[in-house]
Amino acid sequence: MRIVVLTGAGISAESGLRTFRAEDGLWEDHHVEDVATPQAYARDPVLVHRFYNARRSAVAAAQPNAAHRALADLAQEHDLTLVTQNVDDLHERGGSPSVIHMHGEVNRALCAACDHRWPSPMEIDVNTPCPSCGRKTARPDIVWFGEMPYHMDQISAELERADLFAAIGTSGNVYPAAGFVQLARQYNAHCVELNLDRSSVSRDFHEHITGPATKIVPDWVLGL
Ligand code: OAD
Repeated sequence: MRIVVLTGAGISAESGLRTFRAEDGLWEDHHVEDVATPQAYARDPVLVHRFYNARRSAVAAAQPNAAHRALADLAQEHDLTLVTQNVDDLHERGGSPSVIHMHGEVNRALCAACDHRWPSPMEIDVNTPCPSCGRKTARPDIVWFGEMPYHMDQISAELERADLFAAIGTSGNVYPAAGFVQLARQYNAHCVELNLDRSSVSRDFHEHITGPATKIVPDWVLGL
């Protein structure tokens, strides 16, 4: 069975990492457009670096949970393509052998001038030089609003081949990821949503499993 799993912030919530769409509409006390857009980085790089440095240290302090580990087990048994919107490395630390980070990774840096990528230091600031071109234009290697997600061709090809598509802990508010269910369905995959609540795209799934990821993901994996 060919399986594509898409994960979102909900899978890391029980590891202590906050999700994005809190009821107050703020993200760690910031409006998203103040910290997660190319315009924000151009306007106030000090704030953007401070924000992502804090995210990097929160990720370093977090531990993978039972849901991350269950998906690592799933990869042992099936032909699994694991796509995540998360910029943390909890899937990797939970044992997943291969993870597609469509929104980038907080532990990697990107040069805004020459596009060189390298493992990020724990703290990036406005004086961090690019190891390739030497300019002080380091930024987190994260896909900001208005930028193109990574690996879309590969993800689309895997969705077209999938027998089963599962979306775990994602609110279905951010495209193109929110549209993966429609593509998978069009190519005849069975589509299942695992989430604490209904999402914005719940109606597109054939099946819904509701509850906390650390409970429902291991149970779902065991039942496959
Ligand atoms: P959201 O914060 O929008 O949604 C989190 C989802 O997880 C919600 O649907 C919750 O119901 C669910 N959830 C919360 N706790 C859970 C738990 N313990 N078990 C299961 N589900 C739980 O996060 P995403 O959908 O991942 O983009 O957000 C998508 C993108 O928006 C992110 O990748 C990020 C953000 O802007 C970038 O950083 C580029």
